[in-house]
Amino acid sequence: MSVRTRRLGAATLTLTALAGFTVSLLAAQPAAAADPLRTLAAAKGKFIGTAVATNQLANETAYRTIAGQEFNQVTAENAMKWDATEPNDNQYNFTGADQVVAFAQANNQIVHGHTLVWHQQTPGWVQGLSASAMKTAMLDHIATVVGHYANNPAVQSWDVVNEVFDENGGFRTSFWYNTLGSGFIADAFRAARAADPDAKLCINDYNVEGINAKSTAMYNLVSSLKSQGVPIDCVGFQSHLATQYGFPGQVTENVARFAALGVQVRFTELDVRIVLPADAGEINTQNQYYTNIINACLASTACPGVTIWGFTDKYSWVPDTFPSEGQALIYDANYNPKADYTAIATALGAGTGGGDTTAPSTPTNLAASGTTSSGTTLSWTASTDNTAVTGYDILRAPGASGGTFAVVGTSTSTSYTDSGLSASSVYRYQVRARDAAGNLSAVSTTVSVTTLYGGGGTGGCTAVATTQTQWPGGYVIQPVTVTNTGSAQISSWTVTFTLPAGQTITGSWNAVLTVSGQTVTAKNANYNGTLGPNASTSFGFQVARSTSDTTLASGYACAAP
Ligand code: XIL
Repeated sequence: MSVRTRRLGAATLTLTALAGFTVSLLAAQPAAAADPLRTLAAAKGKFIGTAVATNQLANETAYRTIAGQEFNQVTAENAMKWDATEPNDNQYNFTGADQVVAFAQANNQIVHGHTLVWHQQTPGWVQGLSASAMKTAMLDHIATVVGHYANNPAVQSWDVVNEVFDENGGFRTSFWYNTLGSGFIADAFRAARAADPDAKLCINDYNVEGINAKSTAMYNLVSSLKSQGVPIDCVGFQSHLATQYGFPGQVTENVARFAALGVQVRFTELDVRIVLPADAGEINTQNQYYTNIINACLASTACPGVTIWGFTDKYSWVPDTFPSEGQALIYDANYNPKADYTAIATALGAGTGGGDTTAPSTPTNLAASGTTSSGTTLSWTASTDNTAVTGYDILRAPGASGGTFAVVGTSTSTSYTDSGLSASSVYRYQVRARDAAGNLSAVSTTVSVTTLYGGGGTGGCTAVATTQTQWPGGYVIQPVTVTNTGSAQISSWTVTFTLPAGQTITGSWNAVLTVSGQTVTAKNANYNGTLGPNASTSFGFQVARSTSDTTLASGYACAAP
């Protein structure tokens, strides 16, 4: 207790010292571009953050000034990791962590705590413990570190566990997992909630930005933790991107599925590295990736903000970790803002002067086509805008009524193909337009889509003919019952049969008959071709024959594609 009080006292002193210092630095700064990123982000209800390093905060004016001016959220790049906060068992050291928090408070920033339980930057003494001692150490660590900031309003969230998955979505076989099993995850979250009931508690990982095996494993874990009542509030997508690997697929859809679980989605460690030397095309790609992530956050109310993993190429983990790669951040090594900075500012609405409050017109003529058992293609008529329409949000609700419309994707054209739908299911869609300032149109009218039967398997059918009546000179075959005996829906059928020589078809109904020699081909009418498994329909026909002929059509066979 007394230790903790002294530590807090030290933190307060640091805060005061830094606060006074920072004000004078700000005054000495040349006039910045119109709106710093933090102002633009705040206008959108989001934070824009940076990871900060204690050495640079303490020693470099330019670093400190930009970190304070441009961002309204900070994450300690290393100062809150276990090796920094508890280098020896039960010997806590909050010097660096408190420095970051004091800086944040002096600059009216919020702090994301990173990270409590990770397999890296954790001292050897933890890694060698027995299961019961390791669990005790973990619970103590969480209680003490989270507890240290529980009453500090700046510290609002924590990465409780970091990188618990391997590349394919299995649990990483770290010393945590190997010693404690996957139960350490739920235990860690419960301990963090007990230590600070108000903090948002996150799970954080890399390569989970798009939809893939690893993000699906993350999704399943969060879903399972939620259903067990484990206190988890947010998922962190680290977002260490690289131009040579392409932008992750289906980020918007991925954000939406986590949001539907009731957790926040944060982009926690954004950087976009380039294999050096960087050419213009790569830089352009990099600008686009930064823009895409900002847009993905802007598009979801579940995303409170984006944190960039540092801001200047002078100090980035990238060259140390990925040899021959770099230039991943938004300021160059001389603290000049790069095109990435402008891309982010633009995505956050800069240049619209805050003055563009005119929403695009509502998209019209929304229609669906090409519906399969798992997808559909939407198209609509373009919206107009006083500046320009920059894209469309596609919203979907499950079922024919009720449910909630949620954004499932975005499009920069006037069409969108949705996939991953369930077979034989009803979905409703709406579309809205957005402009560069983030103004949204009203939603379009709703289009309803029913996906096809998707049982797979093969089609197959039988035809069973009944003679309704016969007389000297003719007969009526009615019904010919056509049954889908396959396991998939069929959309057409063809019945063939043999007509004895000298007989002629004089009429038919509910099928289209053609005669070639003695072979009659009966194809479904345009209204009775679709049959689900086990479903039946029928047709009939009439035949003329000589009065001495008593034979009937025979050899009925049915085929379905
Ligand atoms: C990195 C820091 O940037 C480096 O300074 C340090 O040497 C290693 O860790 N995922 C994370 C971050 O969750 O904590 C890592 O930060 C980058 C990858």
